[in-house]
Amino acid sequence: MNAALIECKDVTIELGGEVILKDVNLSIYQGETVVLIGTSGGGKSVLLKTLAGLINPVQGYVTCWGKKWTELSVIGKHDLYSHVGMQFQKSALFDELSVIENVAYPLREHTRMSEDEIQARALECLKQVSLEKARNMETYDLSGGMKIRLGVARSIALKPEILFLDDPTAGLDPVNSDEMAELLLNIKKNINSTMIIVTHDISRAYQLAGRIFLIGNRMVKETGSAQQTRDSKDPSVQQFIHGWLKGPLTDGNQN
Ligand SMILES: Nc1ncnc2c1ncn2[C@@H]1O[C@H](COP(=O)(O)OP(=O)(O)OP(=O)(O)O)[C@@H](O)[C@H]1O
Ligand SMILES: [Mg+2]
Repeated sequence: MNAALIECKDVTIELGGEVILKDVNLSIYQGETVVLIGTSGGGKSVLLKTLAGLINPVQGYVTCWGKKWTELSVIGKHDLYSHVGMQFQKSALFDELSVIENVAYPLREHTRMSEDEIQARALECLKQVSLEKARNMETYDLSGGMKIRLGVARSIALKPEILFLDDPTAGLDPVNSDEMAELLLNIKKNINSTMIIVTHDISRAYQLAGRIFLIGNRMVKETGSAQQTRDSKDPSVQQFIHGWLKGPLTDGNQN
């Protein structure tokens, strides 16, 4: 098998004196779509940020293109981030910038495109999320759903090789949520980014994922493809699929 694009080795993450995730081992390969799913507060966002080099584990390490995030210089990290897109759960938009300038930001930061090229690419991204008419709006005038869509537009501006998305369909009405899922499948087709997508919605996970990872009780457990996850005999996986995980996520009995 090819070398992993992202590798998480014996990772333990502690925040605020609490162990959030323990002994996490996983590998993500070029071109695949991995979905992280699990209970609220289980550590999906924390894991996503750790994979993206934004949170440092207290034990173990994460590599991206074979390089440990913690050993990269500021310039090295900046270089890697020019190939990475990230949409944050709380949008993390630049409120002082207009809608289109939010999308232009990574292009200004990481490319030497001309002003015309930047404007054209930013508009193209806004069109993909149906926000072109809102391009001159202030971000604080956007609805919650528009903010999510803008976060996704910004994350794809650089046509990233790796795309981290934190619950991009959350809080959207069913029509918008379906459109967002379609958009993600189209992005996959057009840019062929390796995607790591957080969701709390099992049907979205089935629709989008190549492989699924279930997160809860400080553990990360790979449940395989959509079909393998559906067919899993693991009681904690079945519990999760058929309602929220009630008992602890266990280590054994996985088929
Ligand atoms: N900066 C932080 N400092 C301390 N604790 C944190 C911090 N960030 C997250 N946590 C804690 O880590 C745990 C996991 O949080 P996380 O945001 O990853 O959950 P989640 O699975 O993304 O939940 P949700 O589905 O609600 O978004 C929570 O108990 C949260 O309070
Ligand atoms: Mg979260």
